[in-house]
Amino acid sequence: MQVIIQPDTQSAVKLTAAVLADALRRNPEMTFGLATGATMEGVYAELVRMYREEKLDFSSAKTFNLDEYIGLPVEDKNSYRSYMDKHLFDHINIKKSNTHLPNGMTPDIPGEGSRYEAAIKAAGGLDLQLLGIGQDGHIGFNEPLSSLRSRTRDKLLAPQTLQQNSIYFDPPESMPRRAFTMGIGTILDARKIVMLVTGESKSDIIAQAIEGPVSSMVTASAIQFHNDATVILDQAAASKLKAQDYYHWCFENEPYWDKFR
Ligand code: F6R
Repeated sequence: MQVIIQPDTQSAVKLTAAVLADALRRNPEMTFGLATGATMEGVYAELVRMYREEKLDFSSAKTFNLDEYIGLPVEDKNSYRSYMDKHLFDHINIKKSNTHLPNGMTPDIPGEGSRYEAAIKAAGGLDLQLLGIGQDGHIGFNEPLSSLRSRTRDKLLAPQTLQQNSIYFDPPESMPRRAFTMGIGTILDARKIVMLVTGESKSDIIAQAIEGPVSSMVTASAIQFHNDATVILDQAAASKLKAQDYYHWCFENEPYWDKFR
């Protein structure tokens, strides 16, 4: 794992977008795994800027989102399809038919997970999975106690997640209590993982995920099993990490990062 600490949120966001853009320039047919949430809004804004100003080309890219609420029509402003259209897809030259999210309105809830897994497989697997982290340590909606080998399935959301995300719903109680999410096993199958974590409120949980034991109680800790995972943090989110000096030293001395410094 590579841990990169940036002085502020904007630098962390820009570095994350730069890593995604670099991957896309090297392989225009990239298949991205994407995340939603407040943390990612700046990343998508930066990718849109690169599309407009630097001709970053998404025309052959494919995307699979981590998750989608169950029972929320795609037109609902809180569906993750709406989020992705609003923040990214409507503003770049990606083919909508190449963008995928679980179908939150499917009549076949037990079958949706394997359908989604088959679609990811048919696309050749995920080249790069973008991740955030929830207040309870989740990645995707893999709540505490999710199996570290889990695949895409429907999941009951934890109270902390309902609290974290219900602010977007009016009334807050209308937030769905279940969602489809890629599993930890699905995420770990991605060829590369890039996690972005910002803000003091995430400092405790990210310290547990990076420097604590691997545990299904903090499902983000499973990325310790991945052989190409990068975690990009701002200083506030990194403030509880014990080995900050070591992470800075690795970033300074690893040639791969020369072009990003
Ligand atoms: C959303 C997702 C979640 C979020 C996490 C952080 O697709 O996968 O795991 O990344 O809940 O959300 P924010 O960025 O809103 O704090």
